[in-house]
Amino acid sequence: MMKSSEIRKTFLEFFRRKQHEIVPSAPMVLKNDPTLMFTNAGMNQFKDIFLGNTVAKSPRAADTQKCLRVSGKHNDLEEVGHDTYHHTMFEMLGNWSFGDYFKKEAIAWAWELLTDELKIDKENLYITVFGGDEKDGTSKDMEAYDFWKAIVAEDKILFGSKKDNFWEMGETGPCGPCSEIHVDIRPAEEKAKIAGKDLVNMDHPEVIEIWNLVFIEFNRMADGSLKPLPAKHIDTGMGFERLCMVLQGVRSNYDTDVFQPMLQSIAKLSGIEYGKNNEADIAMRVIADHLRAVSFAIADGQLPSNTGAGYVIRRILRRAVRYGFTFLNLKEAFVHTLVPQLVAEMSETFTELKSQQGLIEKVIQEEEVSFLRTLSQGIKKFENYISEKADKVIDGKFAFELFDTYGFPIDLTQLMAREQDWTVDMEGFEKGLTEQKERSRQAAVVDTEDWIELNTDIQSTEFVGYTELSCSSKINKYRKVKTKKKEFYEVVLDKTPFYAESGGQVGDSGLLIDGDKKYEIIETKNDNNQSVHILPALPEHPENIFTAQVDIEKRKLTTNNHSATHLMHAALRMVLGDHVEQKGSLVNPERLRFDFSHFGKMTAEEIAEVEKIVNKKIRENVVSGVHQNVPIEEAKGMGAMALFGEKYGDFVRVIDFDPTYSVELCGGTHVPATGQIGMFKIISEGAIAAGVRRIEAITADAAEYYINDQLNTFAEVKACVKGAKDPVKAVTDLQDQIAKLQKEVDAFKKQQVQLIKADLLSSVEQVDGMNVIIRKVNLDAGGAKDLAFALKKELDKLVLTLGYANDGKAGLTVVIDENLCKEKDLNAGAIIREISKEIRGGGGGQAHFATAGGKNPDGIDNALSKAKELISK
Ligand code: SER
Repeated sequence: MMKSSEIRKTFLEFFRRKQHEIVPSAPMVLKNDPTLMFTNAGMNQFKDIFLGNTVAKSPRAADTQKCLRVSGKHNDLEEVGHDTYHHTMFEMLGNWSFGDYFKKEAIAWAWELLTDELKIDKENLYITVFGGDEKDGTSKDMEAYDFWKAIVAEDKILFGSKKDNFWEMGETGPCGPCSEIHVDIRPAEEKAKIAGKDLVNMDHPEVIEIWNLVFIEFNRMADGSLKPLPAKHIDTGMGFERLCMVLQGVRSNYDTDVFQPMLQSIAKLSGIEYGKNNEADIAMRVIADHLRAVSFAIADGQLPSNTGAGYVIRRILRRAVRYGFTFLNLKEAFVHTLVPQLVAEMSETFTELKSQQGLIEKVIQEEEVSFLRTLSQGIKKFENYISEKADKVIDGKFAFELFDTYGFPIDLTQLMAREQDWTVDMEGFEKGLTEQKERSRQAAVVDTEDWIELNTDIQSTEFVGYTELSCSSKINKYRKVKTKKKEFYEVVLDKTPFYAESGGQVGDSGLLIDGDKKYEIIETKNDNNQSVHILPALPEHPENIFTAQVDIEKRKLTTNNHSATHLMHAALRMVLGDHVEQKGSLVNPERLRFDFSHFGKMTAEEIAEVEKIVNKKIRENVVSGVHQNVPIEEAKGMGAMALFGEKYGDFVRVIDFDPTYSVELCGGTHVPATGQIGMFKIISEGAIAAGVRRIEAITADAAEYYINDQLNTFAEVKACVKGAKDPVKAVTDLQDQIAKLQKEVDAFKKQQVQLIKADLLSSVEQVDGMNVIIRKVNLDAGGAKDLAFALKKELDKLVLTLGYANDGKAGLTVVIDENLCKEKDLNAGAIIREISKEIRGGGGGQAHFATAGGKNPDGIDNALSKAKELISK
């Protein structure tokens, strides 16, 4: 039996022999593609080539690509676990031709690899070919059909619809007909009953697609039409886990050596055998699958969070926890304990797992613990709910709340309901779900028109912004974009000084100038390796020649912060250690934000030390070393660290500030010499996830203002302590003094209560068998309460009303012996409500104790006489 690692190697070696360059998997988390969060196909990393934004380095490539299909057009999440061949994260083996070979070779090689090299029985393979689509005006792909016919029996070739045999990565963009290879792995007796060809594309778990050969020849336009591409490309994708299933002679992806060891460990952990019970099996598959997705995402720098890609990762992890919780009785955090095994199994091909292992474990554990807390709150809520309702039906609205706020999958709610003999209003639940989906769909609607091309000959943009902040430019192409909230234009120039947002540095803004007409550029974005300028209004004459002028001040401040980030990164590694790795960075004109791995709060001394080192480097006025087009290996040799989750080409840009101090791979803009940064100040440090800290810092004028502001506050404090030589001591002395005085005041008040109590006890009036005291006292509300309770302790049958005034306000307290309340039907609350009118206030309480506050101290005497009246009555 071929091991999965051998299968992977065989694929890559095969295409190496066919003159393909073997390239590494791109990160699973995408950065420069506004339409996609995660890599969902092998072709994503070549999208810029297909779009014509970038020229291919070599005409043929092959790889194994980490993919995640959990959002957007390709989303398999809900299937995962329930069937035996879907995954969230999977490896896609692929080969590509960029304007080089086309259908003939792609077909012949796929067949050669599967049948000659990997020895899959030809009898079990079926081919689908695009059958044409009337609406698109496309015809049957007879070209592909004929190539197949030369090597495969005709009765094994089927025509398929646009849905199955026309591949598109999104709503618009490069696309084309495809030819899929399906395999039938059913036992012979089943094959005898129904022919494999009748089960192709019928969602049969054992007659499945393994390889998709896409013939990219069109561009899908925004209006839905297809435009032929100038060059034709090949994009193929083969599910690695499925291929392993076929070659290892098993009937589920989960029975291959890719998943079996992990499933056995999960089985051991839960004490339930895999393969014995359907619900438990599903849960184990969910966990084995999701563990991979989440671990790889974290290794690529995507931490679970509340928004965007981070939220998707959080939901995947929670799904794993929930299945373990519900079906495997795993009530404590457990997913993180499986990470070491995953790392051992996969880090030979994906080394990022090994180096990020500690972080992956910590982050998963923290997420699990906090989600289990939410889950148990939800369970409490559920229990309260059913204890207060009689009809034994969980409202859809409540089921949706559990789902939305507490992360309960509907099957968990149903299960808990069943256990209590209740049912769930599924219609209501579905309604809530549909409404929510509709809301987010509405919010995400972006209407992008097609590009209007003005200069078709030159498509790529020359970036001159490292050295120039203004240049003469022509518009290559532009298009209009409408979202729910706004409308703007995207403009691509032939030459630009505008830095496009990337590597954490915000994009430039500025102007496009045409004579005396100025058009604002509010943002510059990187869209698949293309600099896109965002303009609220389109220039009147787009065909003119413009001056593209960057906002110099914004750029300068941003640049200061970017260079300071490099200086700080190096200082952090010096002060905290080499485990510090960048996990995220944002650089804008106001400040810099830097996330890094470190397992504990930085001490004040460490922060001060980092500031000191950075400020020293600033004062040294270190000249920046800018090295363009350095071979990546050479750059690493210079000491530059490659970041996980970042895609680097073979040639990179290296920035150093003193080669022995800071060397980084970076495409951002930097100061000519560090003196320009002026000053560096950290303004906050805190945790953003387990093992990940965030620093915010400021430089230049902002740092100066900040420090002056702090000094001004300090000057005010000093003035408060009358310019004492040592103001800190003066303030602490004051605090000590206050504490001491407070103690004395408290003791004095207690004494006063005692004195008044003695006085009141000697003047009790007997009314109708009651001990009545009605008096104005010189106490505050707290003192009055203490006094009232002290009197109650000593006197039976007490009826007490106290009035007091402090700080211009009045207060009343009424206490009545509990027995009297009943015997004489007296109520302190009722009395208070009546008499508090006199002090223009209100209050309340219980029958034996009530208080009130009011605005009119002059009314206290009247209130007391009124109390007397009420009591004698
Ligand atoms: N892009 C195609 C797919 O994802 C082939 O790689 O199926």
